[in-house]
Amino acid sequence: MYLDNGATTYPKPPSVIRAVDQAMQTGANPGRSGHRLSLKSGELVYRCREEVARLFSFDKPENVIFTPNCTASLNIVMQGLLKSGDHVVISSLEHNAVVRPLEALKKRGVSYTVAQAVEGDNEATIRRFRSAFRQNTRLCVCTHASNVFGVRLPVERLAALCHLNGVLFCLDAAQSAGVLPITLSDSSIDYLCAAGHKGLYGPMGTGILVINSDTVPDSLIQGGTGSFSSDRRQPEVLPDRFESGTPNLPGIAGLGEGVRFVLRRGTAAIFRHEMALCQQLYRSLEKTDGVTLYTAYPQPRTHAPVLSFNIEGMDSEQVAEILSRQYGIAVRAGLHCAPLAHETCGTEETGTVRVVPSVFTQPRQIQLFSEIVKKISKLDRKKVANL
Ligand code: ALA
Repeated sequence: MYLDNGATTYPKPPSVIRAVDQAMQTGANPGRSGHRLSLKSGELVYRCREEVARLFSFDKPENVIFTPNCTASLNIVMQGLLKSGDHVVISSLEHNAVVRPLEALKKRGVSYTVAQAVEGDNEATIRRFRSAFRQNTRLCVCTHASNVFGVRLPVERLAALCHLNGVLFCLDAAQSAGVLPITLSDSSIDYLCAAGHKGLYGPMGTGILVINSDTVPDSLIQGGTGSFSSDRRQPEVLPDRFESGTPNLPGIAGLGEGVRFVLRRGTAAIFRHEMALCQQLYRSLEKTDGVTLYTAYPQPRTHAPVLSFNIEGMDSEQVAEILSRQYGIAVRAGLHCAPLAHETCGTEETGTVRVVPSVFTQPRQIQLFSEIVKKISKLDRKKVANL
C-alpha cells in the first residue's frame, strides 16, 4: 500500500509510462537539428508546454520552463532575482527548497522574515504577512499547502497583497499542482514553481517554472539552446533563457501525459477524492487512543490532502519502519525536509508520520491503514524500542 504520494506519486498512469518509453525509442534531441525526428521531438516538447499552460489557464506556453524539479525552479526565482539589500517574506511552513537558498543568499546581502501561517484563519495569516513587509521587500515566496501538515495558505489573496505593496510573488506549488486549482490569468502570482512528478503524475526529475511577470530572473546556467547560436550571450527569449543543454525529453513526454491525465480527471474531482480519504483517515485516527493529530479536521477551504500524525511513545521513523517491514505500507516519516514547518507545529523533535493519498488510493486502503495504526498503537513500547 503506497501512501507516500507527497514524495512522488506512485503508480504513474500507464499513458505516462508509454509516453516515456516511446520518447526513449523514437526521440531525437529537440530543437537542435533540422531532421524529422528532431522536429518531432521539438513539437512534443511544445505540446507539453501547451498542456501545462492549459492546466493553469495561462496563455503563454513559451513562459512554461522545464526544470529538473521544483527545487531548481525555486532557486531560479530566488537566485535569479535577488540582489544585495533585498528582503524576502516567506511563510512559516516553507520547505528547505525555499529556506536553504535564502540562507545561502544571506552571504550576498539578502535578508528574509518568516510570517506565521495561522491554520484556518486566513485573515490572521494575511495580517502576519502584511506586518512582515519592509521598505526593501522585493519578493514573497509561499507554499500553497504544507508538505507536512496539509495546511493551505490564502495564496491568491497574499499575491494580491504583494502587488499592492510592489512585491513580487512566487508560489511553491510542489504539493498542490494538479490537486488544488491554480489559475494564472488575471492572477497576481508572478512565478509558479511545481514538481512534475507529484500531483502532475509525470516522472521524477521533472519540474516546471511558469513566469507570469515582466520581471524575468537572470538565468543561473548558460549554454547551448539550439537557438541564436552565433551570439555568445545567453538568449533573452523564453523558454530558451532557462533551458540550456539537452532537455529531459522522456521526462517531458511523460509529464505532458501526466498533465493530460490530470486534465481528463479534473483537478476538482482529484481534490474531492483525496480530501475525502484524508477526512476518513482523520476521523479514524482521532478515535484511536495514543494517536496525536496536528491539525483541525481537514476542510477543503483550509487544507490540502496531506495528513501528519504520531503515536505516543514511538518515534515517527519507528512507526514508518513497522508499517513498511511488517505490513508493506509506504509512508514518509521524520522532518520531510521542512524543519521550519515542524517548528511551527511543535514537532521538530519527533517529526511526524505523513500520509498522502493519490487519485489511485481507495477508501478500503485507508480503512485497513487505520486498523493497522490502531494495532501498532497498542504495541509494547519497550519491544518496539528494541525492534
Ligand atoms: N518534498 C517531497 C516530500 O515532501 C520530497 O516528501
